Amino acid sequence: MARKFFVGGNFKMNPTTVESKRALLKALNEATLDPEVEVVIAPPSLYLIPVISELRKDVGVAAQNCHPKSAGAYTGEISAVQLHDAGIPYVILGHSERRALFHETSELVAEKTKSAVEVGLTVILCVGEMLEERESGKTTEVVEAQLGEVVKLLDPSKWKQIVVAYEPVWAIGTGKVATPDQAQETHHAIRAYLAKEVSQEVAENTRIIYGGSVNASNCAQLSVQPDIDGFLVGGASLKPEFVQIVNTKL
Ligand code: G3H
Repeated sequence: MARKFFVGGNFKMNPTTVESKRALLKALNEATLDPEVEVVIAPPSLYLIPVISELRKDVGVAAQNCHPKSAGAYTGEISAVQLHDAGIPYVILGHSERRALFHETSELVAEKTKSAVEVGLTVILCVGEMLEERESGKTTEVVEAQLGEVVKLLDPSKWKQIVVAYEPVWAIGTGKVATPDQAQETHHAIRAYLAKEVSQEVAENTRIIYGGSVNASNCAQLSVQPDIDGFLVGGASLKPEFVQIVNTKL
């Protein structure tokens, strides 16, 4: 089965006004997008419900986080059950900013992932190494350990609902994109790991997308790598070039 190219736009804590959020949606709604690409945007949680109604129906909407429990006394949190009930089909989990700034461990990310797939959400599961880890040759070990916690908790049938996003931390928001060879090497290692630890079928069918300083000028070279199935775009998802990234295969 061919893996459908996937492009996500992670708005992070942007934009800062309702008006600029509307302008972003207007541009996306009016754009010509490659119909062969699964496109998803992840606005801040405040905007999720209005975005669902304002956005064209061929573009999906993702939350940027969720809590592993269904409900309860967890001030400031949103559960996967609530996202699903509100009609939000995707959630980004394990982003390096959540891991680093909000101290999320791989165990917690795995619990969140389990709760999300159990209610039917598709998870964009982020993994990636820090610069010192890459420099000391630990990239594969780090991403395998991050994935390993999810492998432990997830029924193999649930991997259909996972898109793995490989995001080297040193490439995020730095303008220092991984080279196509660097990205391909790690994507290939992730696929080999899934084959070994889950199944050959899961390895072949799981989309592994790249994130970290993707823009309109570097996306084409990355997109032709055999194990790169799309992108998770941060900064450039707030700019008109997001459309060019979606259309990179056209
Ligand atoms: O989730 C997206 C990534 O953090 C990439 O962000 O494209 O601004 O480097 P960036």
